[in-house]
Amino acid sequence: MAVTLKTPQEIERMRVAGRLAAELLDYIAPYVKAGTTTGQLNDLCHRHMVEVQGTIPAPLNYAPPGYKPYPKSICTSVNHQVCHGIPGDRVLKPGDILNIDVTVIKDGFHGDSSRMFYVGEPSIQARRLVEVTHECMWVGIRQVRPGAQLGDVGAAIQAHAEGHGFSVVREFCGHGIGRKFHEDPQVLHYGRPGTGLKLEPGMTFTIEPMINAGKPAIRELADGWTIVTKDHSLSAQWEHTVLVTESGHEVLTLSGDAPPPPSIASG
Ligand code: MF3
Ligand code: CO
Ligand code: CO
Repeated sequence: MAVTLKTPQEIERMRVAGRLAAELLDYIAPYVKAGTTTGQLNDLCHRHMVEVQGTIPAPLNYAPPGYKPYPKSICTSVNHQVCHGIPGDRVLKPGDILNIDVTVIKDGFHGDSSRMFYVGEPSIQARRLVEVTHECMWVGIRQVRPGAQLGDVGAAIQAHAEGHGFSVVREFCGHGIGRKFHEDPQVLHYGRPGTGLKLEPGMTFTIEPMINAGKPAIRELADGWTIVTKDHSLSAQWEHTVLVTESGHEVLTLSGDAPPPPSIASG
């Protein structure tokens, strides 16, 4: 599969889809509290997408080769769940950390973003993991400009995570995105500078590092989707959809409530 370069008209539609994904995360944030189930968060998001935004929830019935259709409209991954957690009867409790990953389709184009949320007060270690993972995403985004290479992105993320004693999940990566949910290229969250695909204006892809407090190894649960850390250590993830521009990059999944770039990744 080839990497698609988006036309100006397509980029405008990617901006709309990206903004709607960000606004969906803004919408759900106040509902993340102790006593709420992940299934309730799913139902609220589903209704907001379909009835308010006029978007299609991309995860619902999504079935890449080798997977059974995903049964819900968002992913909710709690504590040692790395990604693709299926919303259900699990009740959130104080101290939990939660990733909510949303992907909307609007006018044929996808916007994909995820954020971490605290339920009550997190432990010091959990807060540190969530903050460093947010920085990891942004040090990766900061590498994005024409002529840079995907290895530059991966290396920056890996150095930041490992420099704080955390580890990078290897089995899942960022991805090209557009008319399809998952397109080329694969955007690894580890690597060597000066290697990999050269970036060009018009490319759109996600950066979505999964960072573990313990070892990098993962395993899949019997539901066929949920990924957890093998050592049961905490895991965190943040995700933005990014466009390569003539002068650098534009983050397509920003909104009023998306946390701003940390100081580590500015300047
Ligand atoms: N949103 C995830 C990503 O960032 C993919 C979820 S696939 C699903 O790529 F089927 F689990 F929704
Ligand atoms: Co993604
Ligand atoms: Co996602």
